[in-house]
Amino acid sequence: MKSFNPPKRLLLGPGPSNLSPRVSNAMSQSVLGHLDPDFVGMMDEVKAGLQYVMRTENPVTLAISGPGSAAMEMAIVNMIEPGEKAIICQNGYFSSRMREMIVRNASIPVDVIFEWGKAIDLTVLEDTIEAHPDAKVVCVVFAETSTGVQADLKSIADLCHKYNRFLVADAVPALGGSVIKVDEWGIDVLFSGSQKCLSCTPGVSPITFSDRAVERIKNRNQKVMNWFYDISSMLGYWGGNQKRTYHHTAPIHSLYALHETLCMIQEEGIENRWKRHVEVRDYAHQKFAEIGLNTLVPKEIQMPQLHPVLVPEGMDDLVIRKTLLNEFGIELGAGLGPFAGKIWRIGFMGENAHTSNVDFLVNALQQILVKY
Ligand SMILES: Cc1ncc(COP(=O)(O)O)c(C=O)c1O
Repeated sequence: MKSFNPPKRLLLGPGPSNLSPRVSNAMSQSVLGHLDPDFVGMMDEVKAGLQYVMRTENPVTLAISGPGSAAMEMAIVNMIEPGEKAIICQNGYFSSRMREMIVRNASIPVDVIFEWGKAIDLTVLEDTIEAHPDAKVVCVVFAETSTGVQADLKSIADLCHKYNRFLVADAVPALGGSVIKVDEWGIDVLFSGSQKCLSCTPGVSPITFSDRAVERIKNRNQKVMNWFYDISSMLGYWGGNQKRTYHHTAPIHSLYALHETLCMIQEEGIENRWKRHVEVRDYAHQKFAEIGLNTLVPKEIQMPQLHPVLVPEGMDDLVIRKTLLNEFGIELGAGLGPFAGKIWRIGFMGENAHTSNVDFLVNALQQILVKY
């Protein structure tokens, strides 16, 4: 074997996004023990940084060791007990994943199904909530990376309050790019990933639980069946205000990276970061239109950090993406499910949300599209 030297890429897909040199440098620092007082002090700062980015004061806010899907699993297995019903809004690939987790938890999904690429219809959701008073939890994907559609999370939270339900929201690609106000909107559980709009290395996933959610978990009839994802035992390590006890060996360098990312977000200001993503989305819309590329969904429901661009008629999706990668070092995401081969998922996330990257991509596409 020889050392691996990855080629340079500009990652303009649905994540991961590129890291800033500051974050890469953080990962080359010396390793500390996972209970070292300096490391534990840094974890406290990570927690405060996550509270800032999520706009929450929730004491139970942490980064779990694992990808966004692990945070999704943690939310499901803690909030829903086996045998309980949960409402799941489905309008794309990742909401189907959440449904699958509900089923594997031996819970009962109550489906609210919308066509892929369409927004969650609040009237249909409200009718379902009313029809199922025993489904105490509502699950929703805030920003559906498979289609580019962003849900009206605040209005969904309002509905949950009206009917006294708990809201579990997937914000994997949204955190750090879309406006999120966990406390003001009253979201019970929100989870994310590190590798998208946070522009951190993959594998440390933010999650927050409201006091109300923690109370529900404390009053469960059955223990969480899955040892690793039981938030109650994880808190012995992440909990603050108490002595830290071993739970698992944390991914030390990934947490250094997250800490540095969060420093950078505080320096930029979260509101400025949200604004930057919207500005880049609007700029990209205009530039794509200028070269004849259309977007799958109307701008009013499109998430700021991802463009589901229709592959032009007669063009081979794979050939164009391969050429972009090989000749320009640019990675785009492929379509999923019914949109496989039909759309490109183009992300301008975190470090990559700059108009110069839009210009670079548009220029490259212009050169490639005339050849095919
Ligand atoms: C909306 C959404 N949820 C969940 C996930 C899963 O995250 P991960 O790939 O980090 O497990 C993704 C990843 O793309 C996503 O876009």
